[in-house]
Amino acid sequence: MSYLLTLSKSLSLDGYKKINFLCAGARGNGKSYGTLILVAELGSFPRLDKNQLLGTGQLPTQIYCVDFKNSDMARLAEFLPAGRVATNKEEAIDVVTRYDQLMHQRLDFIKKKSFGATAGTLGMPMYYLIIDEWSATNAAFNQGITRIDKDLRYKWNSLITDIAMLNRVPGFGLGIISQQISVINSGLNSSIQEEAGLKLHFGSANMSSYRLTFGNDIQIPEMNLETGEAYAWIEGLTSSGYVIPFAMPEIEPNKLWNYLRQSLSCTQDDEKYLFFTSKGQ
Ligand SMILES: Nc1ncnc2c1ncn2[C@@H]1O[C@H](COP(=O)(O)OP(=O)(O)O)[C@@H](O)[C@H]1O
Ligand SMILES: [Mg+2]
Repeated sequence: MSYLLTLSKSLSLDGYKKINFLCAGARGNGKSYGTLILVAELGSFPRLDKNQLLGTGQLPTQIYCVDFKNSDMARLAEFLPAGRVATNKEEAIDVVTRYDQLMHQRLDFIKKKSFGATAGTLGMPMYYLIIDEWSATNAAFNQGITRIDKDLRYKWNSLITDIAMLNRVPGFGLGIISQQISVINSGLNSSIQEEAGLKLHFGSANMSSYRLTFGNDIQIPEMNLETGEAYAWIEGLTSSGYVIPFAMPEIEPNKLWNYLRQSLSCTQDDEKYLFFTSKGQ
């Protein structure tokens, strides 16, 4: 499978079918770090050997990110082309506007293909927009009363909604990381919450906090999760029943940085992969 995303040796999923992911958990539990491990995987898709973190790079996922804390995620700017990483409101609007435009260009391209075609059936590389510290980002956009603030707020909300509504067919994923990902507390549009194919909650938390992530209809085992360990809800797999506990691979920071360099250095180009198809017409 071209888009096989491996969370742990025993847990993998189709990254294209479960295109939107939500990642919750208290600070320091491995949300950003875990997501960076997934970025290294995504950027070098397809991964053929589950014992090797990096794949062959023929279908490299194009990575875009918003990180207002200007921390680990934002440092990906070292490997990404200009215009991929945002650390403030103006930059975020620029990055997300570009992402949305590319998504629409790809959608127009796919519409000219045979009925029912998608980026997945055409074997196109995915694009991914990752927003770290979603609640803080959203709060920043909700502050301010000047005309410019209101304009940015309006643009932000409409861009995110547009992407969340249309992103499956073109394969333009949305990854949202937040200490809390409930709709009520985080300003998360309910359609994003409902559309997420993968929900992760990192680290130990009290039951009410897990409930905010997973809802009330799912069983949550009583375990003690450490940094880098999480519960997963995967659409179709865990719709009823239990969330799945798993551990991300443990990787030293220097090693992860090297993986990210290898994965992203020569594979990132806004235009080059936009209309690239590896199968079908
Ligand atoms: N899978 C992992 N392998 C090795 N170290 C990890 C892993 N996950 C987390 N860590 C360590 O824990 C620290 C905190 O993780 P981080 O992802 O920044 O937490 P969060 O984003 O949830 O606040 C990281 O800087 C890293 O040192
Ligand atoms: Mg973090």
